[in-house]
Amino acid sequence: MGCTQSEFVSLLTNTLNSTHINRYKNTEQAELTVNQLDSVKSTWKLIKNHKDFGLMIMERMFLKNSEIKHKWIFAKDLNTEEEIRKNLQTIYHAAKIMEMFNKLVNLYDLHKPNDFKEITHLGKNHFDYGVRPSDFEHFEECLIYCLEKEINDDKLFDIKTKTSWKKFFIKIASKLTEGIYLAEIDELNTINKCIK
Ligand code: HEM
Repeated sequence: MGCTQSEFVSLLTNTLNSTHINRYKNTEQAELTVNQLDSVKSTWKLIKNHKDFGLMIMERMFLKNSEIKHKWIFAKDLNTEEEIRKNLQTIYHAAKIMEMFNKLVNLYDLHKPNDFKEITHLGKNHFDYGVRPSDFEHFEECLIYCLEKEINDDKLFDIKTKTSWKKFFIKIASKLTEGIYLAEIDELNTINKCIK
């Protein structure tokens, strides 16, 4: 026996947590200004060792956000800086994130339509890993913290630069979020078909 249309809509609404849809929903007002994008691009160039920077983010993620650490199944027994930095799957995720950021920072162009299909697809994969939009808030905190620490200069990484990076991350996270919701809707549709 299937659920009615209104039961399905209510199931969907309950599943999607509106607080987090709001933070990472893809809105035009979240678009960066030319100066903001320049500031993201120029500060990204200051990050010389991407491998190490990615690991710095993962380290903060695992040490300060233990409530979501289990989403990286391989991370559950990683408790020290040394364990985190030596773990091959952590190194893999750190490298993948850095590759993605590097690509997005370099290709992002305010004067051309940007193709975010790859990042939306990545969001769909992350749904399968159990990642939910609220997890990106933790990621955002770690990213900003690590940028500030690595750049280590109040004038280069001032409040405006921080705001630019937050906006840039919101852009990425909103596309990942879109992928997560598309995957979630697919799953709910499949469940709905199965119970009919
Ligand atoms: C914040 C929460 C996040 C969690 C819990 C998470 C979790 C994961 C997991 C479990 C994997 C699979 C790893 C493996 O197969 O060994 C993965 C892969 C990956 N992640 Fe994340 N991730 C997060 C955020 C991000 C962000 C912000 C990005 C980049 C923008 C990213 C980019 C990637 C890429 C490129 C891969 C490999 C490709 C793929 O599996 O499709 N992740 N992530």
